[in-house]
Amino acid sequence: MTIEVSTDLRERLRSHFPALASDTVFLENAGGSQVPVQVADRIHSYLLESYVQLGAGYELSRRSTDLVHRAHDFVRHLMGGEGGEVILGASASSLLQMLADCYSKVLEPGQEVIVAQTGHEANVGPWTRLERCGIRTRWWEMDPENFVCSLKQLEDLLSDRTALVAFPHVSNLLGEIVDVRQITALAHDAGARVVVDGVAFAPHRAMHVADWGVDWYVYSTYKVYGPHMAALWGHSDALGELTGPNHFFIHEVPYQFELGGPSHEGCAGLLGLADYLKVVAGLDCTANLSRSDIEQAFEVMTACERPLQARLLEYLGSKQAVRIVGPAGDSPTRVGTISFVHSEKTSRAITEVVDRSTVAIRHGHMYAYRLCQALELDPDDGVVRVSLVHYNTLEEIERLIEVLDRALV
Ligand SMILES: Cc1ncc(COP(=O)(O)O)c(C=O)c1O
Repeated sequence: MTIEVSTDLRERLRSHFPALASDTVFLENAGGSQVPVQVADRIHSYLLESYVQLGAGYELSRRSTDLVHRAHDFVRHLMGGEGGEVILGASASSLLQMLADCYSKVLEPGQEVIVAQTGHEANVGPWTRLERCGIRTRWWEMDPENFVCSLKQLEDLLSDRTALVAFPHVSNLLGEIVDVRQITALAHDAGARVVVDGVAFAPHRAMHVADWGVDWYVYSTYKVYGPHMAALWGHSDALGELTGPNHFFIHEVPYQFELGGPSHEGCAGLLGLADYLKVVAGLDCTANLSRSDIEQAFEVMTACERPLQARLLEYLGSKQAVRIVGPAGDSPTRVGTISFVHSEKTSRAITEVVDRSTVAIRHGHMYAYRLCQALELDPDDGVVRVSLVHYNTLEEIERLIEVLDRALV
């Protein structure tokens, strides 16, 4: 079903984001998104009305405990995570490092981890550092011609020594969605677990972690219109193989994996996202948010994004000196995280011009350091990256294009 996105719908959605009323054109959303008022309001009320510690018997403490439980349940629902648990933490980087530390206690020297070269360092470094425990890193290399880590190469790397395959669902530079189900099936055939970085995917499409069959899936809630936290979903079987880092007398999952516990006010904010998704899905605020409503909300977001990314790709494609780093055309498997380099200008020189306007973009390696190296780019200069989400507008893309017209000559 094609979703028609009217100007009225866009304006209605934007009206929930107070920050969008300013002059700034937010096109650095892959770094972090803005939050709707529903999220901010919940954090504000929690801090002023029930900011007490969990687990005591008095009424306010019971309310806070319940809220933190409900936040976990909501995120599991959002991720489509039946059959597993959600661990909340400060960031995807810290959750993945925690996970690798847990694996360091169960893996044996001689085992291997396969790591995609397209990954953000958050899902690379923790696995390569297992070399200290005698775990060998095997690189799943990207073909610099088409930016793809091929399934054939993965098949060649997999063996009965492979313990884990770590890869991004979408690279935060390239913007292409990979076939997570197929990669997972290949890894499972070899007896390996998968750790999927969904950080660059989750702002754009609905997650279906149980359906995809993955073992671990992480995303940053602050890039999906929420508070500065992250969530790691683990399948119960994978969770059952590990012991979390919390105190020895804490056995309950996910708390065993949440050293010090998650941010309570952040949990309040996460629940506010459910209210915003109801708006996007066209529901009344009193309705329950079902899985199909979540899917509907993300289909609306995708429909908002596609014409914008198509326009920007078309513009960049028309510039002789510009090379798009990632797929050059729009498609249903592309998100609006669009990177490029210029044959005569550094990425820094381009953003310096753009920074003088009210358009917010950035340049650099964006922590996809090894990917930049594989592309023979100077990581310090990296790429220019424009990253849009559903609340951006075509007018904003035109404003960016006007500025780029000056910056690219
Ligand atoms: C693809 C990807 N993975 C992981 C991360 C790290 O996320 P966090 O900031 O939550 O540690 C980022 C952050 O930009 C990212 O873009």
